Order: sequence, then structure tokens, then C-alpha cells
Amino acid sequence: MAVQNFPDNILYELDNLDVLRGMNSATVDLIATDPPFNTQRNRSGAAGFYVDNWKWGDAGILPDQWAWNEVHPVWLEQIKDDNPALADVIHAARTAHDDGIAAFLCFLSVRLMECNRVLKPTGSIYLHCDHAANGYIRMAMDAIFGPKNFRNEIVWCYSGGGQPKKDFPRKHDTIFRYSKTADYVFNPDDVRVPYDSDYKATMFTGEDTRAPGRTYTRNPKGKVVEDWWRNIPRPYGDKRTNSPDEKPLALYERIVLASSKPGDLVLDPFAGCATTIMAARKHGRRWVGVDRRIDARFHVVCRMAGMKAADAEKIRERPDLADWLNDQLAKYDAHYSTDAPQRTDEGENAAPELGPVYMLSRAQQQPWQRLRHSEMRGILQRAQANTPGTRVVCAGCGRELEEPFMELDHVTPKKDNGENYITNRILLCGPCNGKKKADRTLSGLHRENKRDGWMLDEPKAQSAMAAVRRASARVRDAWNSPDVQDMVAAARGEGARRMELA
Ligand SMILES: C[S@@+](CC[C@H](N)C(=O)[O-])C[C@H]1O[C@@H](n2cnc3c(N)ncnc32)[C@H](O)[C@@H]1O
Repeated sequence: MAVQNFPDNILYELDNLDVLRGMNSATVDLIATDPPFNTQRNRSGAAGFYVDNWKWGDAGILPDQWAWNEVHPVWLEQIKDDNPALADVIHAARTAHDDGIAAFLCFLSVRLMECNRVLKPTGSIYLHCDHAANGYIRMAMDAIFGPKNFRNEIVWCYSGGGQPKKDFPRKHDTIFRYSKTADYVFNPDDVRVPYDSDYKATMFTGEDTRAPGRTYTRNPKGKVVEDWWRNIPRPYGDKRTNSPDEKPLALYERIVLASSKPGDLVLDPFAGCATTIMAARKHGRRWVGVDRRIDARFHVVCRMAGMKAADAEKIRERPDLADWLNDQLAKYDAHYSTDAPQRTDEGENAAPELGPVYMLSRAQQQPWQRLRHSEMRGILQRAQANTPGTRVVCAGCGRELEEPFMELDHVTPKKDNGENYITNRILLCGPCNGKKKADRTLSGLHRENKRDGWMLDEPKAQSAMAAVRRASARVRDAWNSPDVQDMVAAARGEGARRMELA
């Protein structure tokens, strides 16, 4: 039974990765969120205008563009280890589109992997995006939540000014809906809308001529809304609060009503000016919001107090602003924190970080279990050839290749709970790694290679495997010995150089 390790109705003013990583697994009923869209533009938080020149840390500037050199190498390694299909999606985005979109997908994916972990088995996630990245986000979500858990691609249609000279005006956003499992909450009766006025009664009511005995009647409460949502206008004029990204409350109310029950917990890790929070509050759900903006608390409180943008700006000038904000939070029975929660379920749950293969939290790991992807690669390569750049033998087919063509894989597949540590690692050539994927054993790969004629030299493959196993056992059993420490230091240097080149 999952135990919630954070208070109800709390706003965290932090990077959401820290908060998500601190939340116990299976504690959230619904995630409804609207991350930055990778618009490649930057926005001024106060006025909502796009600005051209910005620096990280400029007050009020929300950067919405990503660069490959900002991608944390550890994110990439974790993605490669825990979800090779997702690594392929990111690679494809980088090839088909550009580095920026791949970097954005890395940023989003590490967070979505945590979202998947914190959802309850009956939970769902709705993710709001637009044409800038929606095709790639769909693929990443398939890789994370599983294509069979895809439920809807909702199209939110709106109108407004802006007519490009040579294109159709872009007037819709996309909301991807995934469930955690096949057993998910959905309340169709809570999201019915009136039938259209041009609805032809004869088509759908009365007896079905193709299925005698079956009759159709209209539901007096209306029809369940289709996957294209209209008549929900964008907030404009004095209806807006103080955020350029504000989404309509009615949109998020529909999401909350469709996929959660009263009393359920709703999370928005990219909370902005609290549209999801407001929808959750209005319908008797508990909520958790996260936003890394320094004035996130100000925006959320003003929204809860029903203030319009101009009034909020006046409040900002109060000398006792901090006290006022605290009083308001207490009034709305809400909490605020700049410290991430700490997980308390690591002992009983096999997913302390990202995937089921991390059986121990980082603090519980031995130093050899903390080796990074690039370090393990360097060590195993050295186990076969002492000088970098010499050829390495593939443990799958016995081919000798230059080191950059080798890939790090698992001996026991991850589907069988194979660990990510060096003791369960081998070096394979690209084609063997592609065939082995996350679910095949090494002996299965050997059999397939022999069947399809790819096995070049089985004894050589076996001895490459034996050399790698000897080296990883030594790393585990004699971590402090000079030869192991030399090997680790050399691999670390090479890994850093490889990162620079990438
Ligand atoms: C598109 S806005 C959300 C708008 C929201 N749906 C609303 O209606 O107000 C995205 C928000 O995500 C926040 N954000 C971006 N990266 C973040 C991160 N790593 N952690 C927490 N918040 C983040 C931004 O500060 C911004 O407020």
C-alpha cells in the first residue's frame, strides 16, 4: 500500500525533477500538466510578451528553448539504461529535427518517467502541447507509458487573431491522455455536453436496421464529448491572470472531472498560474503543484484569491507581501515549500530512481555500483585491450571493431530484472545490440546469430565475454586496489572526452 509522503494541497517552488524524485511511488491519481512547448522563444513572465535577449536567472524571463549541451549526461545514461526505446526516440528526434528538440525531449522524458512511477495503477496523465513538439512527445510517451495505455489525442480548438500570409492559422493544441494500466478511472457522465443542433435524430435513434432489436436513444444528459474540444475560449483581457501561458479553467475542469474522483490527488508538475490546481480545488480534489519560477507562490495565491492581473500587480507592492501570502495560504488550507519531499518507500519499492533495475537508492549503493555508463564502457573495453583505440571484440558475434562502434548492454535482460551494474554488462556491436534489445538473453542472441549467419567466431565471442566478466568481478571485489582505481580513472578521462565530442 503506497504511503503519501507529502502534504495535501501543497505548492513546491522548485525544479519538478527534485520533487517528483522525492515522491513515493503510486501516490497520485491524476496528472494534468502543461509543460513549456519548446517554442524556441522566451517569454516575459510579467507582461506575457516574447523577448529576444535573455539570460538564465533574469527575473521574470521564462526560457523556452533547449540546447544539446544543456542536457545532463546522467539523464541520457539513465534513459539509455532504463528505456532503450526512449533513447531511440530521442536519437530519431535529433536526426529528423534538430538538437534542440532532442534536448527538450530529454528534459521532459526524465520527468515523465517519474510521473509514470508516481501514478497509481488506476491513474492517468494528460499532457498539453502544441505543433512544436507534439509528434515527438507522442513517441516519447508511447515509450514511457506504453502504446497500449494510450487513450486519446485530444484536440483543443480555439480561435483568435493572427493570420499567417501563406499558412492556415494554427488554432489548436494537443492533449495526450495515457492511463497507467488498463484499469483506469473514467467518468463519462461527468463530461457530457449537449448534442449538436444539426444532430440527425434518425441516424442514431430508433431501431438499428442492421441489428434488429437494438434501439438507440439519446442520453438526456447529453453526449460524451468527442476527442476534439471546442467552445472553450482562451482566457483573454481582464479574465486573464498574470501568466502568458494561462489555460482556460474549463479545459482543466473537464480533465479533472473525467479522470478523477472527489478526494483524489491531482498533480501538476508544471503548475504555472495554477489552472490545474484551481480545477482540482473547485471539484473537491486534493492537489500538488510544482513550479520553479521564483514568484510561483505569488501567482498561485493571487489566482486562489480570484485576482485579476492588475490587482495582483498592486498587491505585489505591499511591504508585508510575505505575511499576506502566508495568511492567504492558510485561508485556503494550502501549503508551500521550497524543500523537496524525501521518499520513504525505497525499502519496499524497487524503483527508487527511474526503473525497476535500480534495486538500491544511490545512498545505499557501493562505489562500484555507482559507475556511470561511460565509465563502465571504458572499463570493459580495457578488459579486452589495454590501449584506447584498439579494436574490441563483440561478445555477441565475435567481430573485432573499433571502440566507438561498441555499445554497452546487459547480460541478463532488464525484462528479467537484470541490474544496471557493471557485473551485468557486456560490449556488443551495433547490430547485435539492436537484436538483443531489453528482453533477450545473451545465449538467445548467440542462437539467433548462428541461425541468421551473423555469428562470425563463437569462441572469440565467448572469450571476450569471459574477459569482461573477470574485469567486472575484480571491480566489484577489489574496488580499492590500485589496478582497479587506475582502470576507473582512465575510463573516467575517456568518458569525459567522449561527452565533449558528443
Ligand atoms: C506552460 S506553463 C503552465 C501554465 C499553466 N497550465 C497555467 O494555465 O497557468 C509552464 C510552466 O512550467 C514551469 N516550468 C518549466 N520548467 C520547470 C521545471 N523544470 N520545474 C518546475 N516548473 C517548471 C514554468 O515556470 C511555467 O510556469
